Amino acid sequence: MKVIQAADYDDMSRKAANLISAQIIMKPRCVLGLATGSTPVGVYRQLTEWYRKGDLDFSEVTTFNLDEYRGLERSHPQSYYYFMKEHLFSKVNIVAGRTNIPDGMAQNPEFACKDYNDRIERAGGIDLQLLGIGHNGHIGFNEPGTAFEAMTHLVELTESTLQANRRFFSSEEEMPRQAYTMGIKNIMLAKKIIILASGRDKAAILKEAMEGSISPKVQASILQLHNDATVVADREALSLWKP
Ligand code: PGA
Repeated sequence: MKVIQAADYDDMSRKAANLISAQIIMKPRCVLGLATGSTPVGVYRQLTEWYRKGDLDFSEVTTFNLDEYRGLERSHPQSYYYFMKEHLFSKVNIVAGRTNIPDGMAQNPEFACKDYNDRIERAGGIDLQLLGIGHNGHIGFNEPGTAFEAMTHLVELTESTLQANRRFFSSEEEMPRQAYTMGIKNIMLAKKIIILASGRDKAAILKEAMEGSISPKVQASILQLHNDATVVADREALSLWKP
């Protein structure tokens, strides 16, 4: 496990964006695995800025997002499709047909999951996967206890995730109770992984995931076994873990 220490959120975002830029420059036809949530917003902002300056070209890049709520239209402001469009896809020259996000409105979940796995495989696998980490160690929507062998699957959101996300929806009924997520196996098959962490509230879980025992109870702990994983974290997130 490599660790890149950053001073603060902006520095973490710039350092992670640098690694992603290097990937795109070295292999313009690369496949990126992308994440949503508050942590990667600064990375997307930085990549957008470098694109505007003419330093980055996304025209041959393919992307696969980790997850999506089930039952939300793409036009719903809380869908991850909407998030990606707003924070990255509408701002750079990526080809819409090369961006992939699980279809939250799919009629047949089983087919949708298999199709997502197949699409990743047909694209040649993920070159670089960007990840955030949840307070309970989840990555994507892989909640504690999920088998490490899982590929893309449909999950029932846990009570804590429902509570954490409740504020983004106008009513309880509107909140999705299920989501699609890439499984841990999809993530572990990526050639490179970047794990982002920012802020003191991530310090305890970062330490537990990166030096605690490897167990499905802490999904991110499996990343200790990946042969090209890099943690990019700021001083506060690293305040308890001294790698
Ligand atoms: P956050 O979410 O980036 O909003 O902290 C991380 C996650 O839950 O995966």
